[in-house]
Amino acid sequence: MDKIVINGGNPLHGTIAISGAKNAALPLMAACLLSSEPITLTNVPDLRDTRTTLALLESFGVKWQKEGTTLTLDASQLDNVEASYDLVKTMRASVLVLGPLLARLGKARVSLPGGCAIGARPINFHLQGLARLGVDHELAQGYVDASVNGRLKGNTIYFDIPSVGATENILMAASLAQGTTIIKNAAREPEIGNLIDLLNGMGAQIKGKGADTLYVEGVERLHGAECAIIPDRIETGTYMIAVGAVGGDLTLTNCNPQHLPSLLEKLKLAGLEIEEGRDTIRVTRTGPIRSIDFKTMPYPGFPTDLQAQIMALMTLGDGLSVITENIFENRFMHVAELHRMGAQIKIDGHSAIVTGTGKLTGAQVMATDLRASASLVIAALAATGETHVSRVYHLDRGYDDLVGKLTRVGADIRREKE
Ligand code: EPZ
Repeated sequence: MDKIVINGGNPLHGTIAISGAKNAALPLMAACLLSSEPITLTNVPDLRDTRTTLALLESFGVKWQKEGTTLTLDASQLDNVEASYDLVKTMRASVLVLGPLLARLGKARVSLPGGCAIGARPINFHLQGLARLGVDHELAQGYVDASVNGRLKGNTIYFDIPSVGATENILMAASLAQGTTIIKNAAREPEIGNLIDLLNGMGAQIKGKGADTLYVEGVERLHGAECAIIPDRIETGTYMIAVGAVGGDLTLTNCNPQHLPSLLEKLKLAGLEIEEGRDTIRVTRTGPIRSIDFKTMPYPGFPTDLQAQIMALMTLGDGLSVITENIFENRFMHVAELHRMGAQIKIDGHSAIVTGTGKLTGAQVMATDLRASASLVIAALAATGETHVSRVYHLDRGYDDLVGKLTRVGADIRREKE
């Protein structure tokens, strides 16, 4: 396993080009299963999770070709409908093949994802929604065995929680269902808008992009299409928060400021200067870091995927910050590691009370999950001394060339064999 070694204290100066969004690439790649004609995706990031998705799609018989960040996926010859535990256990988003396989072939056998560091990650909303479209399923030996007699039938589906993955699964299934599907309390994340653009480009009839009620008029078949993956708003936010922590003057390019409404406002309150362009963001921090409160919420609220990162910033604040995690039940794994760097954080149920101390010291720390590892990198960039972050395979899941990007803007960071 590899580790990352960081000597903290270097402000970040220069430009970082943001990659395509992991959480858009995964569902849009799964959507290739819906058509016998190839789809082409551009601005695809090179991540462990996109490589895992390619392996999963290959196991169904999908052929693919990648040139730079352009990926063509051909699902004309599907010869398997089982998503094996070995693949699914490394990436929960594999469950997103359920809807497309059922819509295209009428059956699917997908391993239950199992939990991960941040929570149990159930898929009940996915299964309840698919049942409303006529899918029968049983759970056996850790697998979901699902099938539908004939074609999926449109229906009205209401989600108790605006689940991102469940909204994506049902959108893909409903696109080929017979009749109309209405999804109520749908998630509104920009990645869902990206999926809607691809599906409509393939001939689907989906209305309501960006709203919490989506209308799908099922069609007989979907044809090939081309679609660009949107910029990764979580990668963008991660680098913005890093400048907040260690200072500097960073310009992010190929990004979309519109996709970070809450973060931009909160970072300005925390003392950062932010200049928004059409597809650029310039961020600096010269004054003190102000301690403010955060509550994670579904989009357009503050993203749960930036909670660990913002906590690293708040450990350096000028007072008390209360950070409340409302989306996942166990997303404070980074707290124990930040403690090792001198952070003062007290967990009280779903809230973490952070007493800003203005400084952190380097230490040996361990990544536990994707965004926790990003939090530790941010803390290490600002800490006095050397930090070793182990188990960086977590980081590789969602950050394309993080060490290279940070090195090029002045960070003292390298990757080593553990
Ligand atoms: C997506 O996960 C993202 N992953 C997550 O990003 C992100 O944190 C999450 O949305 C919330 O924004 C991808 O897009 C690949 P949910 P997803 O369904 O779809 C509960 C990262 O770091 N729930 O919106 O799994 C669930 O347990 C990852 O990039 C059910 O109870 O999230 C959670 O508490 C981490 N039953 C809440 O809803 C279900 O059937 C929101 O989950 C589904 C979800």
